[in-house]
Amino acid sequence: MTANKIFEELNPPPRLMMGPGPVNVDPRVLNAMSMPLLGQFDPAFTEYMDEVMVLYRQIFQTENRWTFLIDGTARAAIETFMVSTIEPGDKVLVPVFGRFGHLLTEIAERCAADVEIIEVEWGEVFEPQQIEDAVKRVRPKIVAMCQGDTSTTVAQPLAEIGEICARYDALSYVDATASLVGMDLPVDNWKIDCVSVSLQKCLAGPPGIAPITFNDRVAEIVNRRKHIEKGIRPDGFEAAGGPMVSSNYFDLGMLMDYWSEARLNHHTEATSMLYAARECARVVLKEGLQPCFNRHALASKAMVAGLEGLGLTVFGDKSHKMPNVTGVYIPDGIDGDEGEMVRSEMLHDFGIEIGTSFGPLHGKIWRIGAMGYNCQKHNILTCLAALEATLRQHKVKMPAGGGVDAALAEYRAAGQ
Ligand SMILES: Cc1ncc(COP(=O)(O)O)c(C=O)c1O
Repeated sequence: MTANKIFEELNPPPRLMMGPGPVNVDPRVLNAMSMPLLGQFDPAFTEYMDEVMVLYRQIFQTENRWTFLIDGTARAAIETFMVSTIEPGDKVLVPVFGRFGHLLTEIAERCAADVEIIEVEWGEVFEPQQIEDAVKRVRPKIVAMCQGDTSTTVAQPLAEIGEICARYDALSYVDATASLVGMDLPVDNWKIDCVSVSLQKCLAGPPGIAPITFNDRVAEIVNRRKHIEKGIRPDGFEAAGGPMVSSNYFDLGMLMDYWSEARLNHHTEATSMLYAARECARVVLKEGLQPCFNRHALASKAMVAGLEGLGLTVFGDKSHKMPNVTGVYIPDGIDGDEGEMVRSEMLHDFGIEIGTSFGPLHGKIWRIGAMGYNCQKHNILTCLAALEATLRQHKVKMPAGGGVDAALAEYRAAGQ
């Protein structure tokens, strides 16, 4: 890299990001991020904070008072929930169906939980009965699981999970980073105690801030170990008896004080990221939640039809497929590093990014996303056309135009 290049203006190459996320940010969100900064206690800014809470209650379909933002990527919100609720030795049950179940396990272990996992093969999901049996046996304080796991492209049905957990007095936590607004997650109806996400998938925002919602059952546990930093502690405050949360940054009790009328100072809120989060929610709510789910579902149908129209095979249990990500087997004849060559040629020749895969699926499938702002007909068709052309260069035989034709037929059938 020459010194001169460093001093050139930032000019990222144009990309169509059709991987498992992050994806292209909605231009409205980019615009919001370029607005002037405000001080964190400026009344105009605290009003934006309040608006964010109102907007995300609608996004999460909840009445939860405690609905706000954690500064950091998706895992920042996971850590916040776990470090603030888990005390050493607490039992945590994690039903693992992909990479991000292992992430939940690891974070719980770092919080010194006694973690038990149950597993299904990557590409499958659990029957509610399997989860109930495990909860009955383990009697955990917390059951933590993903809704959609991008690593396997399948989504766990959750409608009964909150109820099961409540029956055995366990808290239910869901990481919906990969799925929120791409599919339904009515937090209150499904009685889920805490859900956290981030912006970089179906919410069409940048990585770096993580919306969270939790109910009074969680707040009560957090308040049992309530602590306030000495420098800002109000006169007469007595810390609660439980052990102090071992992270200052992720101490949910102090974050609740920051986001409530108390407005007790904690971190300096990430102003531009809050603007982004606010705009992401407004974009989705203007479209409407159901139309947004429908848009993702139709794109999924079109992508599956398109890939099959090219003679390719879609990965995983199709009845539980995430609408916003599609796994596809790398076709015969594309061996070893050639799968990665196909991905880099799509990027080089067409400016299109598709995803690789992890763990047992590495080298076997690619993951193609269509979510948020990118989840539009023309992007699906462009991606399929580029994939076909690239695979042809590698001598894969496929019906000419079969991908675009089949995907287009799905859109036409839906009147588009
Ligand atoms: C389900 C799920 N959880 C957590 C994460 C981690 O997100 P981050 O990299 O923003 O911390 C991801 C990222 O893809 C994800 O899909």
